Amino acid sequence: MQTGKIKVLADDIICRIAAGEVVERPASVVKELIENSIDAQADRIEVEIKEGGQKLIEITDNGEGMCRQDAVLAFTPHATSKISDDSELEHVISLGFRGEALPTIASVARVSMVTRHESEETASRILIDGGRIASVESDSYPCGTRIQVKNLFYNVPARRKFLKSVQAEMAQISDVVCHYMMGYPEIAFKFTKSNIQIAATNGSGNLIDAILAVYGPDVTRNLIQLKEPASIAGTGMSLRGYISPPNQARPAARYMTTLVNRRVVKTKLLTQAINKACSAFFPKGRYPVLILDLRVPPTMIDVNVHPQKTEIRFKDERWVFATIWETIQTSLSGLRMVSAPTRPADQFESTPETADLPVFDNDDAGRTETVAAPSMFTPPPAFSMPTRSSTAPENRLYELKEHEVERLGPQSMPSIAAFTPVTTLSRPKILAQLKNSYLLGEDEDGLFIIDQHAAHERILFDQYTQTYKDTPITAQPLLFPVPLKLLPSERMIIKEQLHEFKQLGFSLQQEEDGQFYVTAVPVSDKKSSENESIQNVLSQVLNGWESRSLAEIKTDLLKMMACKAAVKAGDQLNDSEWHSLLEQLLKTENPFTCPHGRPIVIRLTTRQIETGFLRT
Ligand SMILES: Nc1ncnc2c1ncn2[C@@H]1O[C@H](COP(=O)(O)OP(=O)(O)OP(=O)(O)O)[C@@H](O)[C@H]1O
Ligand SMILES: [Mg+2]
Repeated sequence: MQTGKIKVLADDIICRIAAGEVVERPASVVKELIENSIDAQADRIEVEIKEGGQKLIEITDNGEGMCRQDAVLAFTPHATSKISDDSELEHVISLGFRGEALPTIASVARVSMVTRHESEETASRILIDGGRIASVESDSYPCGTRIQVKNLFYNVPARRKFLKSVQAEMAQISDVVCHYMMGYPEIAFKFTKSNIQIAATNGSGNLIDAILAVYGPDVTRNLIQLKEPASIAGTGMSLRGYISPPNQARPAARYMTTLVNRRVVKTKLLTQAINKACSAFFPKGRYPVLILDLRVPPTMIDVNVHPQKTEIRFKDERWVFATIWETIQTSLSGLRMVSAPTRPADQFESTPETADLPVFDNDDAGRTETVAAPSMFTPPPAFSMPTRSSTAPENRLYELKEHEVERLGPQSMPSIAAFTPVTTLSRPKILAQLKNSYLLGEDEDGLFIIDQHAAHERILFDQYTQTYKDTPITAQPLLFPVPLKLLPSERMIIKEQLHEFKQLGFSLQQEEDGQFYVTAVPVSDKKSSENESIQNVLSQVLNGWESRSLAEIKTDLLKMMACKAAVKAGDQLNDSEWHSLLEQLLKTENPFTCPHGRPIVIRLTTRQIETGFLRT
């Protein structure tokens, strides 16, 4: 008879296997330990890292600490003080809840901990090696906890092999620490690498102070405060934060901190909503600096869906998506670029310094609150600028390092000979039209080229958005109703949402035989309302209807309308049309990115031209 081949694994192997999920890299250890300190109500947390966290991760806090009994138990799998039964999992408010972090970390590193709770005179010093408690001693130590994690993954060579360079691991750790610095401005963080300070926050409770410590004054000064949608007021929920204007875009998405109920999360739904809203303002591949702090009742989210607790699930995804989208959309909409005059004849009085800088002007006071008078050359912003060395500009963490620039590849960092997207124009004038599609112009920095279709699209989109901000899109009756080909699910949506379609400028009717007809469509500057194009536009409007808010659908429709009505590539324009196009473009909120996120203006600088002719 064959003996059974299935065995139950020993606890320490189980732990080490699980460690792969909970502790993927040094940054995950830092995250877990910081979260424990936050849960312990610390208001001071120090993070010291050596060699990208592989040699040492040391977290010291002044939280409540642990008594001897708890200190020993803390390293046992599934031992936690944070929840005690199933029902509590429904509304977790602490960051930890599984009792997994410490035992898993201890199973893949050499860990020592010293901790004291105020109820005890002496502190406990505990050594754990490969998951087993090696010694427990008494020591003297103030209330609080210090955990040292050494030689991470020393007993898991496979995992060690997958670690990146010390620098890359350090960058990930920095990201983690920065997220918590901004997520918890009431905690004074001190972040050091081999005992040299990298950044520190003052624990003032003021988010701007924390952002300043992370990003430095230039970025902070230009941030725009997110405008919480009116629909949130009085619901017990809140959405706060800051976003950088489009001319302060970054080439990577690393600079976005998203917090839900004070958890640092990387939830796809949030990223999608943010990207969707930003795509109308930021060029493709460029991202904002963003700090977004969403708070909802704990029962609205499920935190127990991801081993590293970085994902969460929302009960009402549609609401969350729509709210985030709307917030970013409206927050960025209040800006206006103040640009130099457009006509060649116009004389522009300005100092050379300010002539080529885009300046944000708030044309609608109170609509979008900026952190401070946002010109780069205006006096320091209204918030107090700490003078401590910890927040001095040289401590900025998020400057692009050279290796990062390389990693971004040629697309995002054009070489000297390539055209670059333009974010500012100074004293521009148009010289000619190229291939009936592009306008060639010069300004103080060299040659620029405008994509005439994209430019006109931006102008029209802004006009439409303004016109239809609070009113339905004007409907234009059709001479002959157009029959629609619809899927059963689309018929259902239309039947239930006739009123919403009216808001969008569509009149739809169902005949007795069940066939739907369009009798009016959104008004258009162009006559082209062929049946096929009406069908196409409606299909796009219906696409994903269930998961989008009406405001979002309306914005997408306005984009389509702008695209259809705009001059096309191949349309010949006369010189008064060139000038008027540029003039109107520069009056738009965002003259350099079309509503679909593509650049409108590119340039070849005088220097690039000179290099091309080998004149340098
Ligand atoms: N810095 C600390 N200060 C005080 N108590 C701590 C600290 N770190 C851990 N503890 C205690 O040790 C317990 C175990 O910590 P551990 O991180 O393993 O689990 P957890 O935080 O409860 O859940 P999770 O696995 O989700 O993080 C905690 O529940 C807490 O009581
Ligand atoms: Mg924990």
